[in-house]
Amino acid sequence: MEKWAGCTAVVTGASSGIGAAIARKFVENGINVVALARRLELLEELSKELSTDTTKLYPVRCDVTDEQQILDVLAWVESEVGPISILVNNAGVFNGSTNLSDGDTQIWKQTIYTNCIALCIFTREVIKSMKANGIDGLIIHISSIAGRYVPDVPGEHYRVNIYPATKHAVTALNDSLRYELRHEKSKIRVTSISPGITITDIFRDHPAEDMKSYGNMPYMHPNDIADAAMYILSTPPNVQQFYGFQGLGKSYPTQLLKSSRVGGVCLCIVDTNTNSIGIRDVSN
Ligand SMILES: NC(=O)c1ccc[n+]([C@@H]2O[C@H](COP(=O)([O-])OP(=O)(O)OC[C@H]3O[C@@H](n4cnc5c(N)ncnc54)[C@H](OP(=O)(O)O)[C@@H]3O)[C@@H](O)[C@H]2O)c1
Repeated sequence: MEKWAGCTAVVTGASSGIGAAIARKFVENGINVVALARRLELLEELSKELSTDTTKLYPVRCDVTDEQQILDVLAWVESEVGPISILVNNAGVFNGSTNLSDGDTQIWKQTIYTNCIALCIFTREVIKSMKANGIDGLIIHISSIAGRYVPDVPGEHYRVNIYPATKHAVTALNDSLRYELRHEKSKIRVTSISPGITITDIFRDHPAEDMKSYGNMPYMHPNDIADAAMYILSTPPNVQQFYGFQGLGKSYPTQLLKSSRVGGVCLCIVDTNTNSIGIRDVSN
């Protein structure tokens, strides 16, 4: 962990939920955080609460669906804060008010752009910066259990629509980039976390009666995901990939997920050199 103290991390979608929890843990562990989102007032509150004389949380408004804003923010970080060592691609949306058979194109576009295109732009720009500064940095994508299999969510009005497709894309983007970097013999690591249902603002617009159908399911807390991010930071360079997992009481399509305990957290660790996979169950 000491390796990262004093470094700069960019965390997208840090105004609430998982991003805010990750930003908090980072600052508490001596990592300066540039916290991005549209709701600047929430970021400013977080900054007031967390910033110390030695470690800062920089609140910056950024709409990640606007490429120019991304480029401007990252240029500002380089010149005013310092070279970036960690990127957490966390900003994401899930609008369950539409469907696929009769869906709203604007909602689909917003979801794809936020969850996938913005993540690719941030990743590309930060990798350029890491290479230019000779930093063997770390990129963490916040994917989802819905990026591993498509959940058949109960509820009359609530539809997962395009969201699982965007998170499957994040899983694929993670691996494609990992291979790209490995072929280049780059020491920049890219890794992903796939949380199960976590209580956050992402469900704020969802009908209460549909939320009730989740009643018996095990929930995660944003801190659980932040702990997973901290674990990734603590791993040595040969540990590459991480799948956080929360079971929903269903059977899972792959042997990997079947081997996990429902409600537990399963780490899938890929050795960068051999691509061999080991599974470690870290649930209580
Ligand atoms: N909660 C879950 O059950 C769950 C499960 C698996 C994966 N995830 C993933 O976890 C990540 C965080 O979600 P969360 O659950 O913590 O929900 P959340 O509390 O709603 O957080 C989403 C964050 O993304 C930001 N965001 C959304 N659109 C943005 C935009 N156009 N520009 C800039 N920032 C934007 C939001 O900030 P502003 O609104 O202030 O811009 C907010 O900070 C997402 O990628 C989500 O898909 C969540």
